Amino acid sequence: MSFVVLTIVFTSCKNKEPKQDLMTAESNQDYYKEMYRPQFHFSPEQMWMNDPNGLVYHKGIYHLFYQYHPESTVWGPMHWGHATSADLIHWEHKPIALYPDEHGLIFSGSAVLDAKNSSGFGTAENPPLVAIFTYHDMEAEKAGKINYQTQGIAYSLDNGDTWTKYQANPVIKNPGVKDFRDPKVFWHQASQSWILTLVAGDHAEFYSSKNLLDWQKVGEFGKDNGAHGGVWECPDLLSFKVDGTDEVKWALLISINPGAPNGGSGTQYFVGDFDGSTFTTDQQGNRWIDWGTDNYAGVTFSNVPGEKPIFIGWMSNWAYAGETPTEKWRSAMTLPRTLSLKKVGDQYELFNYPVDGLNKIIESGEPKDIKVQGKSIESMPLNGSNQSEIRFKTASSDFSLHFKNGFGEQLTLTMDGQRQIFLLDRKLAGKTGFNERFAQTTQQMPITNLPLDVYEVRMLLDWSSLEVFINGGEYVMTAQIFPNQVFDRFEVVNNKSEPLMLNDFRMGSIKSIW
Ligand code: FRU
Repeated sequence: MSFVVLTIVFTSCKNKEPKQDLMTAESNQDYYKEMYRPQFHFSPEQMWMNDPNGLVYHKGIYHLFYQYHPESTVWGPMHWGHATSADLIHWEHKPIALYPDEHGLIFSGSAVLDAKNSSGFGTAENPPLVAIFTYHDMEAEKAGKINYQTQGIAYSLDNGDTWTKYQANPVIKNPGVKDFRDPKVFWHQASQSWILTLVAGDHAEFYSSKNLLDWQKVGEFGKDNGAHGGVWECPDLLSFKVDGTDEVKWALLISINPGAPNGGSGTQYFVGDFDGSTFTTDQQGNRWIDWGTDNYAGVTFSNVPGEKPIFIGWMSNWAYAGETPTEKWRSAMTLPRTLSLKKVGDQYELFNYPVDGLNKIIESGEPKDIKVQGKSIESMPLNGSNQSEIRFKTASSDFSLHFKNGFGEQLTLTMDGQRQIFLLDRKLAGKTGFNERFAQTTQQMPITNLPLDVYEVRMLLDWSSLEVFINGGEYVMTAQIFPNQVFDRFEVVNNKSEPLMLNDFRMGSIKSIW
């Protein structure tokens, strides 16, 4: 691509409504149409992106900041990229929000509205947005030190457009811990304090502050809890009203890399109680937000208007993130998902399900009931092709679903009631050879609690990803895929001899948000 064309494209993106004389009709149509470009997920215009950062809602706008390397499609010196949205579905790209400085690169972190101006950065009339992030000092790391990660802050008085770093950074120094990062802050009503959760290698630590500037360590959690196959990263501590009750419980999200159930990176959670300094849980076993390989470092928005938290994850995996076959940009975010805490039997479970706003870009077909005779296949064209929603209700737990194309490629999903697992196999679903770990094994998710009467299966396919939500988000799998041709056929396979009923079966096409 020539320099001139690049200039035109960038002008168009920034202004969103390009001057027509600068744009050819063709370049307009080409915007966000590269091979594998997600059409209804957020991805950066160009270059490398990883974790979502600083998710905050303020004055009618959702802010998405993200780990960004503006000079390459592989990870490198981290900045905070920035995008905004009024509806969590359509995004507008903004200039880079935070650049590395003398303290280091800008790693992951969070942002809050300091509504009472406790930091003093703003005024009562114009309270500041405050970002809290990790500084990673590359020079110190190269020099063999271990104390190279500290926590810094910055503030914005113009709703996130421009940011000023606090002159007395860092606000939390390194206590001699190699992996000491990813601060997530919230206002804790009961103790009238800001609480910051960060990770320190194999556990989480809690800090408390009255002004976002002076922090005191008040507790830690996790050395002996949960999965420990890798480093703990990107914590998020949040409270819930258990669905349908007034009971309040807390959930702590912890990303871990490696050590996820299907290899590489994944996000576990703990449900318990938090008293302002200590988090306790009696949860047994490991719990995962998403069993697919491609949902990592996810956290929730602060200051959201609704009752329920909204979560976004990075739709990739450190096992192969730098090698996926896209050219201009790398990686996308998951769909924004509403989190709910439900009591299932005597266990608390975290459900995640796409935000309702997604429905407005889905043109759904007429619902129908499909009956597949024993051990046979129902095949249908995939309308919406690689921008599809497919959803249905069923009571069966023995079927497979295939996404197919004319190249003979196939993405296979199987509900195996006998073994109580759901499987996602992308071995034959297109390009896999860029990294041997990408499709080495079939991804598995234990399904132990399916309602016997009826449950929903909902799938969202967007060129290079599939998100599967079973039973309203109780069981979730997110996976990247790189088919060489559009999937144009969908098959339902009945693996039992009794007829398989899919009720309220709907296939929809999803509009592009770009
Ligand atoms: C998680 C992570 C964070 C870190 C950031 C660096 O994916 O490793 O722990 O802050 O990415 O880009």
